[in-house]
Amino acid sequence: MRKKIVAGNWKMNKLVGEATELATAVKRSLADKTDVEVVLCPPFTVLKTVGDIIANTQVKLGAQNMHWEKEGAFTGEVSAGMLRDLFCHYVILGHSERRQFCHETDAVVNRKVKAALTANLTPIVCVGELLEQREANQTEEVVTNQVLKSLAGLDETGFRRTVIAYEPVWAIGTGRTASPAQAQEVHALIRRVLAKMSNPGAAQAVRIQYGGSMKPSNAKELLSQPDIDGGLIGGAALDAAAFVEIVNAAG
Ligand code: PGA
Repeated sequence: MRKKIVAGNWKMNKLVGEATELATAVKRSLADKTDVEVVLCPPFTVLKTVGDIIANTQVKLGAQNMHWEKEGAFTGEVSAGMLRDLFCHYVILGHSERRQFCHETDAVVNRKVKAALTANLTPIVCVGELLEQREANQTEEVVTNQVLKSLAGLDETGFRRTVIAYEPVWAIGTGRTASPAQAQEVHALIRRVLAKMSNPGAAQAVRIQYGGSMKPSNAKELLSQPDIDGGLIGGAALDAAAFVEIVNAAG
């Protein structure tokens, strides 16, 4: 049985005071939650603040990006080791906003995934099609390619550990959610691709989150699909009550 994993992607939101408030409220409700893996991914500037608040609870810390090199002359970048140093366990990689605004390619994402695993961080690798790709019936091809290229060359241990987030780009921050059936179809496709890349057992072990306007009102139905193993939550993760409700819908 795959343990469900719900992660809050705070994106570029929350100053220190606001982050303190939000993390404290999440901790109050979820400190002892063990049947669902709960992850908070705040911006770099408040990783330490949030990490201190959730230390010694079941709630884990994640970052939203990292560089693939260990250290050196990469102005403005942050390494996997730096994230581990702040007790991060997870890192979101290849989010569609980074693919779109920072021109991250699958090859770049693949380097980052390998660097994260080497540093003992669990990557949450985002894939998903654009609206025009869905409308042109290219979803299967686009998502298959992203999975093949982003996860290329992993050993079986790294492969099993990696979390995938299927986020149809047209559903992110738009209020438009994929229907449970639409999401399940792509999740099942991703698992078939994973099985071909490694083996059926390993593919069954990989958690695949859904992301894109997941909220309390639609979480339960999405999370009850056989291949949906959690959620990557943007907007609704900025509100403690909504986030907690989604986590509780997962288990
Ligand atoms: P959303 O964002 O929940 O606001 O749609 C999800 C994401 O981008 O990870």
